[in-house]
Amino acid sequence: MRVDFAPLDGITKAVFRQVWDRFFGGVDRYFIPFFSPTDQHILTDRDRHELTGSMDLPCVPQVMTCRAADFLWAVERLADLGFSEANLNLGCPSGTVTAKGKGSGFLARPDDLDRFFDEVFSKTRLPVSVKTRLGYQEAGEFPRLLEIFNRYPIQCLTIHPRIRAEKYRGEIHMDCFALAMESSRNPVCCNGDLQTVEDVRRLEARFPSLEAVMIGRGAIADPALPRKLQGGPAATRKELQAFAAALYQGYQEFYGQAHPASQRMKEIWFYLIHLFENGERLGGRLRCSRGPKAYELLETEIFQTLPLRDHAEGDLF
Ligand SMILES: Cc1cc2nc3c(=O)[nH]c(=O)nc-3n(C[C@H](O)[C@H](O)[C@H](O)COP(=O)(O)O)c2cc1C
Repeated sequence: MRVDFAPLDGITKAVFRQVWDRFFGGVDRYFIPFFSPTDQHILTDRDRHELTGSMDLPCVPQVMTCRAADFLWAVERLADLGFSEANLNLGCPSGTVTAKGKGSGFLARPDDLDRFFDEVFSKTRLPVSVKTRLGYQEAGEFPRLLEIFNRYPIQCLTIHPRIRAEKYRGEIHMDCFALAMESSRNPVCCNGDLQTVEDVRRLEARFPSLEAVMIGRGAIADPALPRKLQGGPAATRKELQAFAAALYQGYQEFYGQAHPASQRMKEIWFYLIHLFENGERLGGRLRCSRGPKAYELLETEIFQTLPLRDHAEGDLF
């Protein structure tokens, strides 16, 4: 079974993908956080940089739009850049995105989605995969959506089994996911709340025909999780320390200054702190800290004082 790294906008940037892969790896593919095609069909320098910043790794770029012409334009650019698959974002729950009918907002208009796919799949130069939720308002929308997905040769249907209002928290709807496993004509990938090797093994045992799992926050909290899934060892303190230092260095080079680099590192630590015992107090102080110096001191304190666990625990999701 394949293991995909989930796209986490603002977190799994090119710098992160490079450093993470060098230290841990164990995933088959990295999904690049979404980019939205502009009306003028111009690939901005920023988007191009993010898209091409880790071409030596197996990456799948993600596009967020509800217009077939824009998606097809993006596919052409992605093919020119050397990618071999394009992923459509049907999951983003953000209000600014859904208000424009994109991300999970597109799920509220199944007939339009059907027409979108009809045009995209008749013209696309690359295989197209989809990352979706169960519905916009309620999980009851899913059977109709699945019927639509089943009409098209979707490379892989990655399902985050929640509706838009649930964002990334609360119980996931495994009953709906089971329906997808029974009825999907396309290969299915399961995404959501996978935190330990046991979580993944349980899922595999229940759904032996699962094509892939996609892991996001669980692999930030425990960077060795995908490696452990391949039979590799847990992360050591020394390794984590070197990883954090290399990532901080990479961000400083990217931004040309320490302040935004320390902000990025704090986002990583929001998850990574769960790999340490009794991390609540220092994790809280790190979140509230200001400036690179405070971040650096607190990170040193975490590594010097907190016992390391062999898997992430606590309220991660
Ligand atoms: C900060 C953040 C940024 C995200 N950015 C994206 C994105 O760009 N594209 C996308 O499809 N999903 C995005 N997601 C959703 C994740 O890819 C994933 O579906 C979600 O975190 C659930 O998986 P997990 O429990 O393994 O983390 C984002 C989630 C978070 C928390």
